[in-house]
Amino acid sequence: PVKTFTARAHTNIALIKYWGKKNQDLILPMNNSLSLTLDHFYTDTEVSFDQTLKQDSFYLNHEKQDTAKITRFMDLVRAKAHLNSFARINSINHVPTMAGLASSASAYAALALAASKAAGLELSRPDLSRLARRGSGSASRSIYGGFVEWQQGHDDQSSYAIPIEEDLNWDLCMIVVVIDKAKKKISSRVGMQLVIETSPFYPAWIKQAEQDLSAIKKAIKERDFKKMGTIAEENAMKMHALNMSASPHFSYFEPASIEAMQLVELLRSEGIYCYYTLDAGPNVKILCSDKDSSRILTRLRTRFAKNQLLLAHSGPGVRLIDKK
Ligand code: DP6
Repeated sequence: PVKTFTARAHTNIALIKYWGKKNQDLILPMNNSLSLTLDHFYTDTEVSFDQTLKQDSFYLNHEKQDTAKITRFMDLVRAKAHLNSFARINSINHVPTMAGLASSASAYAALALAASKAAGLELSRPDLSRLARRGSGSASRSIYGGFVEWQQGHDDQSSYAIPIEEDLNWDLCMIVVVIDKAKKKISSRVGMQLVIETSPFYPAWIKQAEQDLSAIKKAIKERDFKKMGTIAEENAMKMHALNMSASPHFSYFEPASIEAMQLVELLRSEGIYCYYTLDAGPNVKILCSDKDSSRILTRLRTRFAKNQLLLAHSGPGVRLIDKK
């Protein structure tokens, strides 16, 4: 009998960024990172192993996908479970249609849980985080909800995420300004490696990221929103400065990204506290407090269309769900 398991994992946005690997095969990062898991954007993935299959089969949003990367990941699961059959994998990305927050984080976190269960494994959450990490670094953090830290470690065993606060009792939210849903020009994998190899500022980034991490953890503990936002925004800008200092230099900013950032700065000058962060793409994510979100959205609407603006809150960690 073929057993099917379905898991749901949410995407996460880093406030202290992961940007560089010390081991590319194991995906061990150069620095610890810290993220917020979001409620609105998630991936549901269904996995079953089937002895009649001649190779893994992978469908994303009902469309057949190439399986090279997935098979490498599934090989890790097969090795752990001493299994040699292939798997049927169906993934649905629940990200509002314009968002293009193509999320390897939610994808590999959901796959880690569904695939390990379907293979008969009972992995602990640290073990799920280690496994998800092998698919995509940021996926290690989507195992948990709320604020999560990925501890870099020094080998496969010691590199995994830990929860900082899973259930936030804090009126935080994140507004996503969707600038462009097109596929990014430079993948994070390629971008971060180019930075390590060519940016003269990389050693300074590592030192700074360490300081930013301990400062933001203190700000979170003290519920100091302005301090947390300032540290997150500055950390993101330092990451993007690395990209501009690489050779060849590159940037993920689009003109509209900069407009969104300037609008946030203008709102701040008017006493509405909000802060931005950007990842390996042009979308701008704005951290704010719930009580200010409608005023901020109203102002963003003067420049961006309604369907470019998405509102999210803190979300939960990975879990199994009933198959629909
Ligand atoms: C800018 O986790 O996508 O979003 O490990 O190569 O798959 P790989 O990279 P990925 O990189 C995420 C980079 C980032 C910052 C972050 O999420 O910490």
